[in-house]
Amino acid sequence: MGAAALGAVGVAGTAAGKAMPEATALAKLRAPRNARFVADETQTSFEDITSYNNFYEFGTGKADPQRNAQALRTRPWSVTIGGEAGVTGRYTLEDILKPHALEERVYRMRCVERWSMVIPWVGFPLADLLRRFQPTSKAKYVAFTTLHDPRQMPGQRAGWLEWPYVEGLRIDEAMHPLTLLAVGLYGRVLPNQNGAPLRLVVPWKYGFKGIKSIVAIHFTERQPPTSWNLAAPDEYGFYANVNPAVDHPRWSQASERRIGASLFSATRPTLPFNGYAADVAGLYRSMDLRRWF
Ligand code: MTE
Repeated sequence: MGAAALGAVGVAGTAAGKAMPEATALAKLRAPRNARFVADETQTSFEDITSYNNFYEFGTGKADPQRNAQALRTRPWSVTIGGEAGVTGRYTLEDILKPHALEERVYRMRCVERWSMVIPWVGFPLADLLRRFQPTSKAKYVAFTTLHDPRQMPGQRAGWLEWPYVEGLRIDEAMHPLTLLAVGLYGRVLPNQNGAPLRLVVPWKYGFKGIKSIVAIHFTERQPPTSWNLAAPDEYGFYANVNPAVDHPRWSQASERRIGASLFSATRPTLPFNGYAADVAGLYRSMDLRRWF
């Protein structure tokens, strides 16, 4: 990918592979803070949020996405809406975003690998988008798909996951007021490595539910497949609710390491539902959370 193509996407890049988009290279977004959804904790720095990533389409190392995702073309972009809904079709990103006022929310994010961050997202409730497409009574789940384009996403030429990356939520989880579609962070357009132009944020679930660079949203009657569950069904469930009482088969989930915190305060106990139990525990009242992990 040459410098001209990088220029075309407006990234303050240098040579391909070395592009380091600084915050100032990303367009600002108008997004007043929603005080109802602000974790009262020290926010992780922009540098840490954008340089320590999981985005296997761009490599498996934490630094790979920042290095390899800069050439991803996020305009034009379209999202297909399909399945059990009254209104379906293929929409431009502009049409998807147009009716929604953006807001800022500060959420904790807990990765299944035991690290965590506090991220000021810019986005809007997923429920507001889903309602526009009039899900039918058969819409029990919502399935999400990431772009599949091995030319732009070098990791998709390797077989460490089945491509494209797919995720899903139960419809009540998808409609929950905490569930966000993010288009930015720190008041600016989402950096490519964080899932531009559109990614899911479900703060009470492990980070892998937060599918990046979404190109399709389908309403389904049956529980859809999810990438990490397909790759290792004993290790990663469909629900993936943050749960300090249910260990991963290879490590404890009782505590986590806050990225960027000082050595003495970095390790902290993990909270049930990542601290959002008061809001979401009711969704799972009759379920055995050991079985439905
Ligand atoms: N989405 C896609 N398409 N591909 C991925 O590899 N990784 C997931 C999730 N979404 C991933 C993805 C995982 S494991 C985590 S922890 C979060 O993205 C990381 O988000 P971040 O890099 O913005 O912190």
